[in-house]
Amino acid sequence: MFAFNVNVHLLYMWVVVINLLVVLLLISLSLVSANKERTLSDKPKLEYCPFFANRAPNIQLGLKNCTWFRENSCCRQQEIDAIFSRVKPLRGASPACQRYTNYLMCYVCAPNQNTFYRVESLTVCEEFCDAWYEACQNAVLKGSVIKELYSNGSEYCASRRFKVQPAETSSCYYFDARRDKSEASRSMVWRMLLSGVLIFPCIQRFRDFV
Ligand SMILES: *[C@@H]1O[C@H](CO)[C@@H](O)[C@H](O)[C@H]1NC(C)=O
Ligand SMILES: *[C@@H]1O[C@H](CO)[C@@H](O)[C@H](O)[C@H]1NC(C)=O
Repeated sequence: MFAFNVNVHLLYMWVVVINLLVVLLLISLSLVSANKERTLSDKPKLEYCPFFANRAPNIQLGLKNCTWFRENSCCRQQEIDAIFSRVKPLRGASPACQRYTNYLMCYVCAPNQNTFYRVESLTVCEEFCDAWYEACQNAVLKGSVIKELYSNGSEYCASRRFKVQPAETSSCYYFDARRDKSEASRSMVWRMLLSGVLIFPCIQRFRDFV
């Protein structure tokens, strides 16, 4: 009987220790990925908002669109509402077309917009223009199918009065799929929750036991 108790005690000890290790591992993984995100988005050191009279970007937790800029944003939700409401969706736009178009409009929120928005002119990366054109080529603009009006992404972007540059120049607005859908912070919250779920019942049980 005594031996059995000791064994169960030991077993719980081990469960707790292993859970602690798992939690530590998960937390360090979160920190590593958070740091990676940070160094990526911090590259342009000086960030300000030429689209909004050079004011400073700041935290905008209330953003319902362009949500990936919440932690550091040049725009506020009322401004997005005003800007988006002036843009009519293209007729026959596919979901992908819609997605790229929305992402494109979000440039006003990008905290590093001083690298691609100058003298009231937006420079879009050629690769982004091509993806946008590809996704929207069958949509209708002013009564004509886009692929019949323009032969490539650069031409399409130019027709929207955007300047076009290759992404390698690092001075154009590019499409970052990780930002659009993955939301690193959400996965971090998940990991934290998961750790809590794992460790909490074990602590409870351990307490009951001793
Ligand atoms: C902006 O966000 C709201 C709320 O999520 C949504 O209903 C609306 O369709 C979004 N607007 C655009 C243009 O995506
Ligand atoms: C896009 O098409 C225009 C007109 O046909 C052409 O002059 C230009 O070189 C093309 N650009 C690219 C990047 O292919």
